[in-house]
Amino acid sequence: MDNSVAFKRDNLTILGKKFVPFIRSKEITKRIKFIAKEIRNDYKGKIPVFVVILKGAIFFAAELLKNINIPLRVETLKAKSYGNSMQSSGKVDLFVTGEDFAGKDLIIVEDIIDTGLTISTIIDKLSSYKPNSLEIATLLMKPKNLRCDLRVKYCGFEIPEKFVIGYGLDFAEFGRNLKDIYILE
Ligand code: IMP
Ligand code: MG
Repeated sequence: MDNSVAFKRDNLTILGKKFVPFIRSKEITKRIKFIAKEIRNDYKGKIPVFVVILKGAIFFAAELLKNINIPLRVETLKAKSYGNSMQSSGKVDLFVTGEDFAGKDLIIVEDIIDTGLTISTIIDKLSSYKPNSLEIATLLMKPKNLRCDLRVKYCGFEIPEKFVIGYGLDFAEFGRNLKDIYILE
């Protein structure tokens, strides 16, 4: 088995899989700032609670929340669904920080929506707290893979059904720290 990990700007190999540049960091940051502005306008006069899905969404959340200049709160939720493979298992365990979500305006911050099974489970869990509103902000989405009826209010980029890494997204826990987003060759 090839278990080497090599990071070069335009040629990246992780455990024998080759990845190539897909979305550059400048473009990502620009898009996130645009979404931040939308959220700031939509939530004026409210104190939204952002529920950041660990671990993948922390990079997106950091850039997004820094650019929303209104009072807000941050909580986290750990959803374990993927293991080290490239396929969604559909089975999800949830661990959430904070519980006083009743009557609050919640925004789920996710790295990527693939089949939508993970986020659907998260929505079910958060809805049970009876929030005032519940929206989704995701950096990436693969619309063709979607298997649930989801209304995604804030989406960074719609992408093809190929595996991507970087900007928080991992393959076997590698690649989260990459500034750009890379796609499987
Ligand atoms: P879903 O349940 O099929 O929507 O999968 C969502 C989760 O799978 C995300 O939170 C990611 O952790 C992971 N995932 C899906 N697609 C990718 C990808 O292309 N790269 C890295 N992780 C992915
Ligand atoms: Mg993952």
